[in-house]
Amino acid sequence: MTGAGRQADTGLLLAGIHKSYGKVAAVRNLELHVATGELVALLGPSGCGKTTTLRMVAGFETPDTGSVKIGAEEISALPPHKRRLGMVFQNYSLFPHRTVAENIGFGLRMAGMSRAERDGKVAEMLDLVQLQGRGDVYPSKLSGGQQQRVALARSLVVNPKVLLLDEPLGALDKSLRESMQFEIRGMQQRLGITALLVTHDQEEAMSMADRVAVMNGGRILQIGAPADIYDRPKSRFVAEFLGTSNIFEGTAGEGGGVLAVAGPQGIVNLPLPEPQAAGQSLLLSVRPERISLASGEAVKGFSGRIVGAVFRGNYAAYQVEVPSLGRELFVYRQADGPLGATTYHLGQTVTLDWAPQDGVVVSAE
Ligand SMILES: Nc1ncnc2c1ncn2[C@@H]1O[C@H](COP(=O)(O)OP(=O)(O)O)[C@@H](O)[C@H]1O
Ligand SMILES: [Mg+2]
Repeated sequence: MTGAGRQADTGLLLAGIHKSYGKVAAVRNLELHVATGELVALLGPSGCGKTTTLRMVAGFETPDTGSVKIGAEEISALPPHKRRLGMVFQNYSLFPHRTVAENIGFGLRMAGMSRAERDGKVAEMLDLVQLQGRGDVYPSKLSGGQQQRVALARSLVVNPKVLLLDEPLGALDKSLRESMQFEIRGMQQRLGITALLVTHDQEEAMSMADRVAVMNGGRILQIGAPADIYDRPKSRFVAEFLGTSNIFEGTAGEGGGVLAVAGPQGIVNLPLPEPQAAGQSLLLSVRPERISLASGEAVKGFSGRIVGAVFRGNYAAYQVEVPSLGRELFVYRQADGPLGATTYHLGQTVTLDWAPQDGVVVSAE
């Protein structure tokens, strides 16, 4: 304990990080603080700079400008092995000709730890990743998920200050990925280890991270708790990358209280969550699950016609053509029809509606 009983921050701090490869600016003036014990996910499409960011933390790349700190210590000038990091990368594979125990104990042996002490630590790690009694087998005898658990154990055994995970579950199939998400997250929380996860999978980011940083074009566009950025995206890109969204373009009409959208039969007013400067061009994002459906022509709301209906197990996804808006909208409803069926069928006339607070004004970025 220091000062007024607060724990010293041993988190990860990236300040003003910039990295170009020739004319390609891979990472642009990136600012990121991962607090002690926090897991932050860098989420974004392929090529947005996630791996480059992680490699600069790891020491495999040198930033053009900026600093990388763990706690108060500047680590930018340190070689990778002196940074006290644990790494699980997609392509950071196990040594095939060493047993599971030898793989896990490798870092400790390099650090000069005695055999007896190493064995104790390795056994602890085997427990942690639920591979008790599997220390003597070779990696090829393990499933993909088990191999990633060994990789995790190997990175954690050296007691790293920060854990770096680059698409760690990318090679696993969906059901295994989901259980591994719980497992890695549980372990990270139990150990209280500071972690930075890189993924292009929004579900993975949202289910594992305390905070998600959405990246595009080398920048962090928005960072926040998963529910926060999902419900309150600041930009069109975030709204569309994190889930699906219906985006409406228009201008603030009637003194700024509604979004006036040009439809084929004239102007249609959509509700706005809060008043906007009148006459301003705006984008409004409405999530598919926020739109309600009822059968029949609209009295209140918008009339539409079902042009697509897909059963997705836990919900039904609809495409609804709305003539007054001259476009189709995505609508998700809880699958409450008979087993395996959707509630509304193709061609059916429906009413769509949503509350003003269900829309979010977003920037064009
Ligand atoms: N070693 C490199 N040499 C040249 N360009 C690179 C190199 N590494 C990454 N890039 C480029 O930098 C950008 C970001 O890449 P990367 O960080 O791998 O993205 P992500 O991990 O988000 O898919 C891409 O345009 C990529 O082509
Ligand atoms: Mg990558």
